[in-house]
Amino acid sequence: MDRLHFYSIMNGEGTLDYELYLNTKSLLSCQKDFAAFCNKDELQFQVVHQIEELWMKLIGYTLLDVDEYLLKENTNRVITLFRRVHIALRLMINQLDLLETMSPKEYQEIRLQLGNGSGQESPGFRVILKMHPFLWHSFKSTYLDQHGLTVEKIYNSEYAHADAYVVAEALAEFDELFQRFRFVHMQLIQRTIGMGSKSLKGRSVEMLNEGQRVRFFPELWEIRSHMTDTWGASYGVVRDSIGGH
Ligand code: HEM
Repeated sequence: MDRLHFYSIMNGEGTLDYELYLNTKSLLSCQKDFAAFCNKDELQFQVVHQIEELWMKLIGYTLLDVDEYLLKENTNRVITLFRRVHIALRLMINQLDLLETMSPKEYQEIRLQLGNGSGQESPGFRVILKMHPFLWHSFKSTYLDQHGLTVEKIYNSEYAHADAYVVAEALAEFDELFQRFRFVHMQLIQRTIGMGSKSLKGRSVEMLNEGQRVRFFPELWEIRSHMTDTWGASYGVVRDSIGGH
């Protein structure tokens, strides 16, 4: 097959309505020229990062809407939009798998192209990291405080599987999936450059473990251990066997 011929088709003319509406001319020029790639894996490397940025843009944009609907206590909208956020996060997580088809050596060649860039400079990631305090405040004031509820009441003492609980679980799922992205990304690092190495900023890769411990909504995780402690208090630390031995 004639590579150059197919390369020109891949870029498209950019003149048809489909191409104009989707701005494919710009979109498909966001990657290096085919001739400039350092190896056959670099297109995939750029595309995966760019797609992840687009998902994060969509997630950030959607969370702004979620916040407005939280303040209006519009649970149906909140749940539908959180579902969109959750699906996009799962896509982000699953798409990291693609980069595991790249050998460690091919990544080393690509790495020489990256300057001292760091994923911590990602605009999408940085904006999502800033949103959780606002979401928590909106949820707490509208779904809890206004109704005299607390996290403890909706999960345990007054548990009714009502709106506040369902929205709290959507927040928890967002939190969990964001952490899962960080966890799977660490596995990708391990697979590609190995733990114990230094990032392009000269920092130890292990510093990312700190981010993995961050929880957006700690109260939603603490309630679970609190419940285990209080429910478990009836039997103490070690429970008797059901069989009596
Ligand atoms: C082979 C592929 C990859 C490798 C080897 C890699 C490696 C790294 C390293 C070493 C860091 C720490 C950098 C620092 O010192 O600041 C980092 C951070 C980060 N990378 Fe990647 N990365 C890869 C792919 C990706 C992809 C596809 C994304 C998609 C968005 C991504 C997003 C991030 C983010 C958001 C951070 C900051 C994480 C945090 O603060 O918890 N990385 N990456």
